[in-house]
Amino acid sequence: AFPKRVKVVEVGPRDGLQNEKNVVPTPVKINLINMLSETGLQVIEATSFVSPRWVPQMADHTEVMQGINKLPGISYPVLTPNLKGFQAAVAAGAKEVSIFGAASELFTKKNINCSIEESLERFGEVMKAARAASIPVRGYVSCVLGCPYEGKISAAKVAEVSKKMYSMGCYEISLGDTIGIGTPGSMKEMLTAVMKEVPVGALAVHCHDTYGQALANILVALQMGVSVVDASVAGLGGCPYAQGASGNVATEDLVYMLNGLGIHTGVDLQKLMDTGTFICNALNRRTNSKVSQATCRL
Ligand code: HMG
Ligand code: MG
Repeated sequence: AFPKRVKVVEVGPRDGLQNEKNVVPTPVKINLINMLSETGLQVIEATSFVSPRWVPQMADHTEVMQGINKLPGISYPVLTPNLKGFQAAVAAGAKEVSIFGAASELFTKKNINCSIEESLERFGEVMKAARAASIPVRGYVSCVLGCPYEGKISAAKVAEVSKKMYSMGCYEISLGDTIGIGTPGSMKEMLTAVMKEVPVGALAVHCHDTYGQALANILVALQMGVSVVDASVAGLGGCPYAQGASGNVATEDLVYMLNGLGIHTGVDLQKLMDTGTFICNALNRRTNSKVSQATCRL
């Protein structure tokens, strides 16, 4: 049976924009987040407190955090790879953060320049500081259905890293198909393994749509009881350390599917599509949302 309601985690301002080659003006980012805040979304990932040398697009993290209208009832989490990022995030007013690890050694090295074990040590420092500041922490695990550098990743490895990050105190583990390579069969196998270690109520799926499998994979996750799904308005995005990785599933398409299934999200599809139109015009690109294409918004 499907969950009655699904929490949609909008990652467009972070995952969506981090891969844009041209630096997006800060006011455009702020406007994007403010428009998303009016759609009924409960969680909007705003930016990353990562090294500007690694991801120049996120260098304006503090300005973005301080420039947006933070509406009550909406969480605006930010990525923090280490204690330095965590402290900068809190100084900028962040009330929730995300740490991001991976089930692949090589991806971890390319993405955050350390081994999985070292990453967990760094995350431990962030968790400790977050606990002291009463800041909830979300945990990402990347490469759960495959890695751009290592290829196949075992479900057992995903379960192991997920368990470690959950045991550290992450309230939610978001399972990232970073390169969108999974299919419903591998999604089911991976989730079956992870659900033995982490309660399904604490799991989210984060599907990139590189191979066009995202909605099918999300449907499987919903059938297995997952009720938190990450998505990116207009299907923007990709990871700069996973070449060729395209955007996340479009939030518009996810909400359209959930509406059709009678699953409550609280998100206004029309306002979401208008936001997609805004950001696509600002970036001068075509939307990746099939629903927006079908309804001729762009
Ligand atoms: P490093 O070079 O190993 O860091 O990078 P370091 O500790 O050796 O420090 C080197 C310099 O960076 C120092 O400055 C530090 O102060 C500075 P210097 O003394 O040379 O002037 N530094 C920082 N500056 C700003 N913010 C910080 C920070 N930390 C150190 N937080 C580091 C390690 C983790 C910083 C780097 O690798 C990095 O920033 N990586 C981020 C990569 C990234 O953002 N990737 C995309 C997000 S993950 C993703 O998209 C996947 C996801 O969507 C899920 C999925 O799809 O699977 C979440
Ligand atoms: Mg991602």
